[in-house]
Amino acid sequence: MGKTGNKNVIATDRYVDTENGTVNRRIFSDPDIYQQEMRQIFARSWNFMCHTSQIPDPGSYFLNSIGEDQVIIVRDREGEVNVFLNSCPHRGNTVCRAEQGKTSSFFCSYHGWNFDLDGRLLAVPGLDKYYENDLDIDNLGLARAAQVDIYRGFVFATLDPEAIPLVDFLGWVGRLSIDLVAERGEMEVVDGIQKNRIQCNWKLAVDNLFDWYHPKVSHLSAIRAGAITEESLFPMDQMVILGEYGHGIGGPGVSVDRQAQMDAKYQGPRRDEGNRGAFSNAWRASDKAKEQLGSIGIRSRGHPNLFPNVWVALGGNQLCLRIPKGPLETELWWFTLVEKSMSAEERREVVQAAIHFFGPAGLLEQDDGENWIHSTRTSRGTVTGERASNFSMRQGHDTVYQDGEQKSIETVVNEHGQLWTYRCWEEWMRAKDWDDLVRNHSPEPTGKI
Ligand code: FES
Ligand code: FE
Repeated sequence: MGKTGNKNVIATDRYVDTENGTVNRRIFSDPDIYQQEMRQIFARSWNFMCHTSQIPDPGSYFLNSIGEDQVIIVRDREGEVNVFLNSCPHRGNTVCRAEQGKTSSFFCSYHGWNFDLDGRLLAVPGLDKYYENDLDIDNLGLARAAQVDIYRGFVFATLDPEAIPLVDFLGWVGRLSIDLVAERGEMEVVDGIQKNRIQCNWKLAVDNLFDWYHPKVSHLSAIRAGAITEESLFPMDQMVILGEYGHGIGGPGVSVDRQAQMDAKYQGPRRDEGNRGAFSNAWRASDKAKEQLGSIGIRSRGHPNLFPNVWVALGGNQLCLRIPKGPLETELWWFTLVEKSMSAEERREVVQAAIHFFGPAGLLEQDDGENWIHSTRTSRGTVTGERASNFSMRQGHDTVYQDGEQKSIETVVNEHGQLWTYRCWEEWMRAKDWDDLVRNHSPEPTGKI
């Protein structure tokens, strides 16, 4: 890549120019960069697998992906949660085809090898006659993820044995992102994950979740149709929380002053009186929630992204995976979460909103997807793809606010979350291994940003 004085053209041989707030568009279409992402990011990172409510009993399983590696999450007879590559050690065939269900074993449809819920190879047709019992059965079980862990009902796995513990990878920002769901009560995932594919690079779908600049333009039809108010899509009080390893929360926030007013006005269990029903924020009034979320976390109404690709959406009622399916294609998986204690009517309300705003029939995501597709396409252009995309909004104009251990940027619409994601993305891409990443990743920003 050539050096140039034009800020809109790539000025360095790095992909992300944090000084000028620009990103090399090649990262949205280059097949080599994509392959590197699968290895350097997805195969190393902790990845969200499912919620424990989706695998309640021994034999309950759910299929998901780590990058392009398909995995089976299954509860075994001892109640342990296992994560296996969905690939038969014989010839690589998948041993499970249904997306979710309950089974007593995994039977390979090619030659009939059969695997127990803990991955052990149970039976091989012709073991005596054809193999003469000369087969290393003990070492031909399903391959396990290197580590599996659960944070507050959310199951994660990594393929890297060197990965730091899940709780450290999440850090306080990643944990807060999950706490914003888990603190509401005992949660469960509603049956039926909404899945659809968009012909866009996965990172464009990720950076959009921090983007409160586009709604007034991209979603004008939804506003005009009266489906959503302009104020709800374009709130002025914005709050950004940036965490180590690329996690972040961006979007509306309650200001310190407004929170103090609310605390003084609404004592007791229903502090947020204007917001009742399935999407109530009343749960935030409890001392337990305040303690768990912290003085800054309790004020956040934004969108968290667990790096690399998990969006915790709609105030905690949905969770969306942006699953890469090649450099030019992304599969979106929408999980809908409800509190176990919700009435049937409240559940319906949550599911209705989930179907109407996002997912294949969602009012908003059709608009978004169209733009991501075109941004991806232009990045393939020989000359167009050499130009940089701009993420400089409010760079150098804000200051990080700190209260105890927690930090936030209290601001208006901005691009801090997006630039942080790309900055960290490059750190993951450059790190030789976990040790290197731990030593050389960016700490949470402080001071002027
Ligand atoms: Fe599975 Fe042969 S590929 S039994
Ligand atoms: Fe949108």
